[in-house]
Amino acid sequence: MGTPLFVYDEAHLRARCREARSAWGEAVAYATKAFLCRAMAALAHEEGMSLDVSTGGELHVALAAGVPADRLVMHGNNKSDAELTAALAAGVGRIVVDSNDELDRLERLVPVVGTRPAAVLLRVTPGVEAHTHEYVRTGQDDSKFGFGLASGMADEAVERARNLEDKGVLILKGIHAHIGSQVFVLESFDAEVEALAGWFAPLQLEELCLGGGLGVPYVEGETAPSITDWAAEVRAACARTGIPASVRLSAEPGRSIVAGAALTLYTVGTIKRLPGIRTYLSVDGGMSDNPRPVLYGSGYEAFLPRAVEAERPLVVTVVGKHCESGDVVVPTAWLPADTRVGDVLATPVTGAYGHSMASNYNKVPRPPVVFVAGGRFRVVVRRETYDDLLRLDA
Ligand code: LLP
Repeated sequence: MGTPLFVYDEAHLRARCREARSAWGEAVAYATKAFLCRAMAALAHEEGMSLDVSTGGELHVALAAGVPADRLVMHGNNKSDAELTAALAAGVGRIVVDSNDELDRLERLVPVVGTRPAAVLLRVTPGVEAHTHEYVRTGQDDSKFGFGLASGMADEAVERARNLEDKGVLILKGIHAHIGSQVFVLESFDAEVEALAGWFAPLQLEELCLGGGLGVPYVEGETAPSITDWAAEVRAACARTGIPASVRLSAEPGRSIVAGAALTLYTVGTIKRLPGIRTYLSVDGGMSDNPRPVLYGSGYEAFLPRAVEAERPLVVTVVGKHCESGDVVVPTAWLPADTRVGDVLATPVTGAYGHSMASNYNKVPRPPVVFVAGGRFRVVVRRETYDDLLRLDA
């Protein structure tokens, strides 16, 4: 197979999908931006999840995997005419409308595409600051996403949507909100429900989607609530704040479904000891297969699969092969004393926003993905070749 390589435990993926499905019910959607290929889309669908797609590309892959369009939820803060047309023509289950311009587009496109009225949710920003990195925080008033609750934009959008409902353009099914990603503190979701409830309940709509965002532990010492805990907390908050029990609650977990299911395997290429400074251990990937350390300062652990039980006294900085000093995979990793060139090194919890954010920087081919189940593996995404790197050159 070679390295770098993403290895997913299929049983783990299925277990998380089932947990989400039983905790949230049939409307729960897997947020495909976390990791998507046909095999993943098919797996989430088989396990009873809807799929959240946020671009024409994600829509295309989900449809190509055979997921029925009515199990798809179309997102995006800037859906193009082409993306909306594709979603309408396919007959996606829900379109999550993000802006007034998008309402204009739907008004124009629905009659042209000639389909039934679009079933929509309106995305609102509830004015909640989730406890997470500011780049992945989305619920605050100052956001590019959705209709603000505090500013009155959300009220105007509801009124406008009801108008368009009368014109046969759409059916307003409910409201959507998403406060951010990698959220560990369940109280952030309580705050989301509290901010929405008083406004949502009188609208008498059928559906409320609270987005994704449940955090996962990446490094030793971190803990996160389970998907089951998350759903229970949100349900309790809804009951407490007067959201009728008849409302169809849903969520869109991405990271919590796939992150812990995968690890990345690399090969150690060079070890550079700088006495009194640090030891650099270079692997054959880096920011092109995992940009999260560079983007968000995210931490990871590292270990040698050949010596999982060994003492790990050697402190190194795991770096990639890209032409930047910032190309760090693990800032501080503890490894066995005899770690050497040629060893395979694993970084766990790379199943979310790793492969999906991979790039060809420095013309490094993107790694393949394998799913392992019952002691066997299957390649679900092959390794890119050097010829693939030329494929798009005109
Ligand atoms: N729903 C919406 C509308 C979203 O924008 C997102 C994530 C999700 C659901 C899924 O959130 P999750 O359960 O995966 O946290 N690249 C960043 C994360 C960006 C998240 C973007 N939106 C990272 O690597 O941490």
